[in-house]
Amino acid sequence: MLAPLLAFLQAQPSGLTEHKVTNMFNPMTTPAKAEFNMGMLEFAITGAIFAVVAGLLIYTMIRFRRRPNDDSRQEPPQIYGSNQIEAAWTVIPILIVFVIAGVSARTVWGVEDASPPSNAVQVSVVGHQFWWEVHYPGYNITTANEIHVPVSRNRERATYFTLKSTDVIHSLWIPELGGKTDLIPNRVNHTWIDPSTPGIFWGNCTEFCGAQHANMLIQVVVQEPADFDKWVAEQQQAQAIPAEISTGQKRFQISGCWACHAVKGTRFNGKVGPDLTHLMSRRQLGSGVLDNTPANLKDWIVNPQQSKPGCLMPASKMTGQNLDDLVAYLETLK
Ligand code: CUA
Repeated sequence: MLAPLLAFLQAQPSGLTEHKVTNMFNPMTTPAKAEFNMGMLEFAITGAIFAVVAGLLIYTMIRFRRRPNDDSRQEPPQIYGSNQIEAAWTVIPILIVFVIAGVSARTVWGVEDASPPSNAVQVSVVGHQFWWEVHYPGYNITTANEIHVPVSRNRERATYFTLKSTDVIHSLWIPELGGKTDLIPNRVNHTWIDPSTPGIFWGNCTEFCGAQHANMLIQVVVQEPADFDKWVAEQQQAQAIPAEISTGQKRFQISGCWACHAVKGTRFNGKVGPDLTHLMSRRQLGSGVLDNTPANLKDWIVNPQQSKPGCLMPASKMTGQNLDDLVAYLETLK
């Protein structure tokens, strides 16, 4: 009964249900389901062990506790050096460990060894303190903090991730879509998803990476294939070079924004911060800390340290007309 109400409350203007409150008990991809089933099996085994141990403990406490006027009671016989009992409590845990290890290895390798279908979407994610760089090598798209992928029924058009890091170890976790995979400097990791339902799925960095670790949010926007193709076509557009450079674009240059940020189609090609070519198409600023609105964009430019203390973007302290001009330019980056 709650599910339709929740879906109604979470529905977005785009028609996509937003899963901002993540739920790892609601797996929506083949890897997430395999990991969920493994987790449930291990939960059942460890739950059964807990029930047996706690049950014996409670039974013993009640059955053998000292009662009033009971001093003459016979003590139960003690058992010493029983080979059968010692063998049993050695062999049973070993068997349990083998079962858990076997199931875990099979699940992990099952996910890792799955080869991509020929029409898989390849996405390269690079972790930065404290944001996510996102490339689509096959489509020549670069974006940040928001990954768009097509719905993939029966692994048709599954999305394969290549995970790297430029600085410290980060970890990608989108609970509905799959387990955590680390992004490690000088190492390439892989994972994949084949989400069966459209929606906006939030995730987070889950490996402590510094002051803003908890604010290193990411969103995966799962779209119907036609909508995804439309998004790809839009993202592939470079920004048209206007006949006359706007004051805002000049401000972008004078203030040195280009030293860190790129705008495809212009000479601005900074690589340190997020690519801004289609900034306005993104839902959030500062990897999930602010909604992408003109007012928030202004606050962010004036002082990012206000909403994300410790992030690597310095405060511009820009004011007045200069700020208005710059934001007006950024708002053209659709
Ligand atoms: Cu990146 Cu924690």
